[in-house]
Amino acid sequence: MSDKYEKERGRHQLIKLDSASLGYIASLDYGINAPDGSTIFPNKGKEKISRWRWSKEKLKWGIKNDYVVVKKDRNGNWAVYTKQYLNADNEGNIIRRTLQPMGIIEKYSTTQSNKELKSLFNNKSIFSYSKPEKYIKYLIYLISKKDSIILDFFSGSATTAHATMQLNAEDGGNRKFIMVQIPEETDEKSEAYKAGYKNICEIGKERIRRAGKKILEDNKDKKGIENLDSGFRVLKTDSSNMKDVYYAPVQTEQNFLDSLSDNIKEDRSSEDLLFQVMLDLGIELSSKIEKKVIDEKEVLIVEDGFLIACFDKNITEKTVKAIAEKEPYYAVFRDSSMASDSLATNFEQIFESLSPQTIRKVI
Ligand SMILES: C[S@@+](CC[C@H](N)C(=O)[O-])C[C@H]1O[C@@H](n2cnc3c(N)ncnc32)[C@H](O)[C@@H]1O
Repeated sequence: MSDKYEKERGRHQLIKLDSASLGYIASLDYGINAPDGSTIFPNKGKEKISRWRWSKEKLKWGIKNDYVVVKKDRNGNWAVYTKQYLNADNEGNIIRRTLQPMGIIEKYSTTQSNKELKSLFNNKSIFSYSKPEKYIKYLIYLISKKDSIILDFFSGSATTAHATMQLNAEDGGNRKFIMVQIPEETDEKSEAYKAGYKNICEIGKERIRRAGKKILEDNKDKKGIENLDSGFRVLKTDSSNMKDVYYAPVQTEQNFLDSLSDNIKEDRSSEDLLFQVMLDLGIELSSKIEKKVIDEKEVLIVEDGFLIACFDKNITEKTVKAIAEKEPYYAVFRDSSMASDSLATNFEQIFESLSPQTIRKVI
């Protein structure tokens, strides 16, 4: 069945507007005009069980936008139908313009995906058994919304990240991805190893960089492509940043207690601490992070000041004040950072006077 919107909205099927299975609602049991001047009701004189699926207002919109068909059914009775388009939702939004419908999965093969991956890596076979990017893109398209987070626990060569960026480029989506991969070592005889990729994570990271660059190049003339986010952040799992307390109090000696005067392990960077805090507070790890130096101390600013942290040693009143003046939602410091006991005491007062609503945390 064709109609004037077919090019834009794709093919459609007709779905009866009356429904008995959705449950009776009196306000959805109203009369609709038939072409011969009669009135159509969802119940056709029977006991009240059916109702229309659409409200009067929605029906008005549907008629105006060519979503409604009134015609006789097989029994010769007037019936009202709505059009369910392949490429448009029930609000007139185009949803499947860039992709083909179901039934194409068998078109994808790993031979094809190996070729694609090779072309991205200067004709080198750096990963076997990668999934076809177009196939994964199709699956993501089927199950995701434009702002979904796509998670792949067995990321391998990061086909899922590639497919997510590609789909975003095609439909203007803003999907994010999380790829998880153990640093499984590559075989010393493999092309990947010889090309410098000592473990699978390195392959995945490089794939994302190259795919992002290629997608931006391929779409350089496309409107809005400048909004495509092809960046990513790499995080590694590790033990806690906090020093372990192994001993019962009776076993502790003074030098052990001294070593705990700073409760954080010596080898941890300010980023390590920041990501721990972000995890604790439920802040997305993909958030924007800026570094600034205030009074010679490094200050980390997350999401334009939603969270401000300073983990430097010997921070001064000036630094604390500068942070409080920015009125962050969270302000985080390190316990051992306070230059003096008086600053530790003043800390609360500084915030009480400059930004009382800020939630302060000392780790
Ligand atoms: C076949 S690959 C995934 C391929 C990926 N879809 C692609 O297109 O590149 C599966 C990955 O899962 C990882 N993996 C397999 N078993 C695992 C396990 N038990 N724990 C963690 N990772 C595992 C392997 O390192 C491998 O890289």
